[in-house]
Amino acid sequence: MTDIKERLGYIKNLTREQFEALLYITQRLNNEVYEDAIIIETLDWVINVVNAERVVFAKYDPNAGNFSLIASRNINKDITNKLEDFSTGILRHVLDKKEPVLFHDVQNDPGFSQFASVLIKKIRSLIGVPILKDKEVWGVILADSQTDRREFTESNLIFLNFFANLVSLALDKAIKIRELADENILLKYQFEEFNRVPDMVGGSKAMRELSKLIYRVAASDATVLILGESGTGKDVAAHSIHKLSTRKDHPYLAQFCGSIPDSLLESELFGYKKGAFTGANADKKGLLEASDNGTFFLDEIADISSALQAKLLRVLENKEIIRLGDTQSRKINVRIIAATNKDLTQLVKSGAFREDLFYRLNVFPLRIPPLRERRDDIALLAEHFLGRLGSSNLKFHRAALSKLENFHWPGNIRQLLNVIQRAVILCDGEKIEEEHIILEENAGEMKFDGTLREFEKQILLKRLDEHDGNRTQTAVSLGVSVRWVQLKLKEMGIN
Ligand SMILES: Nc1ncnc2c1ncn2[C@@H]1O[C@H](COP(=O)(O)OP(=O)(O)O)[C@@H](O)[C@H]1O
Ligand SMILES: [Mg+2]
Repeated sequence: MTDIKERLGYIKNLTREQFEALLYITQRLNNEVYEDAIIIETLDWVINVVNAERVVFAKYDPNAGNFSLIASRNINKDITNKLEDFSTGILRHVLDKKEPVLFHDVQNDPGFSQFASVLIKKIRSLIGVPILKDKEVWGVILADSQTDRREFTESNLIFLNFFANLVSLALDKAIKIRELADENILLKYQFEEFNRVPDMVGGSKAMRELSKLIYRVAASDATVLILGESGTGKDVAAHSIHKLSTRKDHPYLAQFCGSIPDSLLESELFGYKKGAFTGANADKKGLLEASDNGTFFLDEIADISSALQAKLLRVLENKEIIRLGDTQSRKINVRIIAATNKDLTQLVKSGAFREDLFYRLNVFPLRIPPLRERRDDIALLAEHFLGRLGSSNLKFHRAALSKLENFHWPGNIRQLLNVIQRAVILCDGEKIEEEHIILEENAGEMKFDGTLREFEKQILLKRLDEHDGNRTQTAVSLGVSVRWVQLKLKEMGIN
C-alpha cells in the first residue's frame, strides 16, 4: 500500500462500518490530547471493528530494544492481560516490517506455531499494526482471535492501516502538546508571581521559600537568627523583616559585633551613666534603648565575649537593660534579630558560645542559601545591579551571563556586585562581554569581616595547606620567619 491511487482503491473495499469508524476516529482523535486516552480508545475501536478478542498496545523502546505494555483490552473490556500473554515474535515481526501484518490460521503456520503464547491461547488470527512516529516504530497494536471466532479479513488490514496512520498523527500531536505543557509548567513556575520581599531580588525556589519564611516571621514578634555565608544577604533579610513587621515605623538599628573591643561594644549597646569610665562625661543611651519599640540587629553575634553574652541573655530574658555604671534597670521593647556566618552549634559544643543564649536566639532560624545554591537568581541579580549602578542601558552578552552563572561565588552576592561593578567600568560598548567579567577565586575571602587574629589564622592555615604542611615554605611565602610560624601555631594550639 504505497501510492495514493492504490490506497484509494483499497478504501473501496472497506465496509460501511469501517468507514464510519474511521470518520468517528478522525473526529475523536482530533479532540483528544491525552496519550493514554487515545491509546485506550484506540484499543476499543480495534476490538469492535476487526472483531478481535484481545488487543494490546505495546510501546517500543529503541534504546533497550524491547517492548513494554501500555494498555491492553479484552472483548469484555477488562484489562487483565500482561505483555507475556501476547506473542513478542509477532511484535518484532511488525517492528521489522513497519507495516500492518495479518495472519490467518496461525496454528498451522510453522512460522508462528512455534510461539508458545500462540499455542497456549489457541490463537487463530493475528493482526499487527505499527504506530509510526518520525518514520520509526513508536509502538505496535496487536490484536488476536481464537479458534471459535471468525478470521480477520483483508479489509480489516486496510482499515487498520488507515487507522494506524491516524493514530500516529494524533499521538504525535498529543506527545508534542504534552511536551509543550511540561515546558509551560516550568516557565510558569519560573515567572509565577510570588510574594516578593521588596529588597530581595531572586525567583529561585530557594528564594521563594526564603521569602515565604521572611513574611511569616515578620508577622510575628519572634527573635530571629539569620544564618548564612558572608555576602548572602543577611543584612538585607534582617532589615526586610523589620520593614515588613508592625514595628516598621519605629527605629531599626544595627550593630556589627565582629572586630570591636568588648568595652566599646558594651557601651554602644547598653549606654552608660556619666562617670562610668574616663571620658563618660554625660549619660548616654545605648543602641538597644534607642531602638525601643523597633528592631535591633546584632550582626556577627558569634564573636562577642562571654561577659557580653551573659548581658545579652538578660536582655532577651527580662527585656531590660542596665546602662554601664548605672544601678537602675530600664524596660525595653525591642525585637532582636541576630546573624552569623559561623556554625553556632559548633561554637556551643566547644564552649565558645553560651548554650542558653543560643536557644534564646535560635527561636526562628533563617538560613540564607549561598549564591551557588540558587544559580537561577544570578542573571536576575546581575541585571538588578546594573540598575543599581546606574547602568541599566548596558546589556549582558549571553556568554558573559554564562560565565557568571557557572562561577561558584565564594563571596556570594556581595562578590557578584563587585564583579558587575568592575565589568561596568571595563565595558566601553553597549554589551558586557565575557572578557569584562573578571572572577577572583579569593574575592570572597578579601571581604573577610572577622578579627585580625582570625584573619591571620585563616591565612596561615591556608598557606600551610597549600604547602603540604611545610613550615619553611609557608614562612617564605608569607614573608615571615619559620620561628614566627611555629610560634603562631603553638599559640593556636596546633601541632
Ligand atoms: N536578594 C538580594 N537582592 C539584591 N541584593 C542583594 C540581595 N542579597 C544581598 N544583596 C546585596 O548584596 C550585598 C551583600 O548583602 P549583605 O546583606 O550585606 O550580606 P551579608 O550580611 O550576608 O554579608 C549587599 O550589597 C546587598 O544589598
Ligand atoms: Mg552582613
